Formats: sequence, C-alpha cells, structure tokens
Amino acid sequence: MMIEPEKFRDFERAGWENIPGEYHQAFGSLTIQAIGALLDAVRVKKGVNLLDIASGPGYVASAAAKRGAVVVGVDFSPAMVAEARKLDPGVDFREGDAEALPFGNGLFDAAVMNFGILHLGRPDHALVEAHRVLRAGGKFAFTVWAKPEETVGFGIVLSAVEAHGEAKVPLPPGPPFFRFSDPIESKRALIAAGFDSPKVKKVEQVWRLPAGDGVFEAMRDSTVRTAGLLRAQKPEALDKIREGIRRDTLAYTKDDMVELPMPAMLAWARKP
Ligand SMILES: C[S@@+](CC[C@H](N)C(=O)[O-])C[C@H]1O[C@@H](n2cnc3c(N)ncnc32)[C@H](O)[C@@H]1O
Repeated sequence: MMIEPEKFRDFERAGWENIPGEYHQAFGSLTIQAIGALLDAVRVKKGVNLLDIASGPGYVASAAAKRGAVVVGVDFSPAMVAEARKLDPGVDFREGDAEALPFGNGLFDAAVMNFGILHLGRPDHALVEAHRVLRAGGKFAFTVWAKPEETVGFGIVLSAVEAHGEAKVPLPPGPPFFRFSDPIESKRALIAAGFDSPKVKKVEQVWRLPAGDGVFEAMRDSTVRTAGLLRAQKPEALDKIREGIRRDTLAYTKDDMVELPMPAMLAWARKP
C-alpha cells in the first residue's frame, strides 16, 4: 500500500497526543537505558549545544543538561512537550516537526533522536534536517529497536497477532517499523543525508513490567502503531492475542515481574 506521509504523520501525532503519561509510565524506564551510549556517541559534555529531536517526555534532553550541555528538546506533540516541561522545567522544550525543524542552519554541535525515527513518515527528510541544523564537524546519533527476534516484547506481540489475529489492518501505512534495525540500512541512509563515518552498535536494554498482562497493556495503551494494530483486532481475536502474550511472557517472568530483552540499535555519524 502506498505511504501517504501526511496521513501517517496525523495518525502518529493524534496517537502521541493522547498518551504522554501512559508512555512515561510504560516506557520511561526502558528508553532511558540507551541515553548514556547515545550522548557518548555525539560527545555530549559541558557547553555542547545539543538538539534532542522527538524528545517525548524529555529524558535525553534532561540527561544532557545534567552533563552541562546547552539543550533544546523538540517534539511535534504539544501534550508531549507539556509532559517534558512538567518533568524538567529547567530544560527548553519546544514544539516542532522532525521533518521540518524550526531552527536555522548550522546552529548545533550535536543532535540526537532516541526512538524517534521509526515514527516518521519521511525519515530520510528528518536525517537531512538533522544534518542541516548541525555545524560542520557536528555529530548526529539515533536509536531504534533491534529486530523483533531480539526485542522480545515486540516479537511476542507480533507473533501473537500473526497467530490469532489479522496483521493487515486499515491504518494509515507508514515506513517499515524495523527499517533502521538493519545497520547497513542505517549507514546507507546517514550517508545519503550527507553524513560521513557512520557507525552502528547494539545497546542492551531490559523492559520490566508487571507479570500477566503488563506487556499486552503497555503495547495497547502506551504506543501508537502497535496499539493501532491491537485495537483493530476483532474482540475474540484480541482475547486470544492477550492470552498468547501472557503465555509467551511466562518464560521471562520472575516473581511478579516480566523482564524482557529489548535491545536498541544505536547509529551515529558526523557532518563533514
Ligand atoms: C517513542 S517516543 C520517544 C520519546 C523520547 N525520545 C524517549 O527517549 O523516550 C516518540 C516521540 O516522537 C515524537 N514524534 C513522532 N513524530 C514526530 C515528528 N514528525 N516530529 C517531532 N516529533 C515526533 C512523538 O510525539 C513522541 O514523543
């Protein structure tokens, strides 16, 4: 099906607008696990001018500010921007689109996007935009989820949908969710946007959620595309999917918590 980037963008934006608190609750302790490696990749330290793109609740921007960086966080969801300002009133969070950044050329020493690029209708545009706002010699880094065979939370949910439900549902189609999980593709896209010396590495992360329906509920209530996929299922199928997820997470359950491997792929490069 043909991707209509504007429709996909509207779908994503409406989704994020509704769930800043839920996202913070379910993913806040997970996506922060990549921050150290992400900030190290672009050499964030005192005095560095950093742009955090698709900043969400602002975890990366806050961590960079603690290192002494001069930080701006930008996100296209006003509700997410409000959440970020609430969590860290000391950081400059603004509304703006990753595909058309509201900043002039060459302003930043470094830019990062933590689990943002997989939500964009035109990710290659966003890479060109990140390149544009960096000074020569500036660095850019992004993270995405590793493939579903490795990110067990996604693997279990997608297999349950495949087994008991309908994988093709009438949602605005977007670019492949796991496109940038492939290091070759990330490096290729970074070079195409004008960067050089691209590198990729895996960052291990663990998702801890309540046992039982914790994973199902997190995916249903705190994501956009995966939530759309779940909500589009028929009620009987959704019950079976929920049971399947419950069963498959048992192997990862310790006491009353599930602990799932959810590695990130970190890619970074330099503007010549
Ligand atoms: C998975 S969350 C990541 C949040 C945060 N970076 C973190 O580390 O947890 C994705 C974020 O991307 C934002 N987003 C999606 N598309 C965007 C776009 N086109 N421009 C700016 N932000 C966007 C969403 O509003 C959401 O806050």
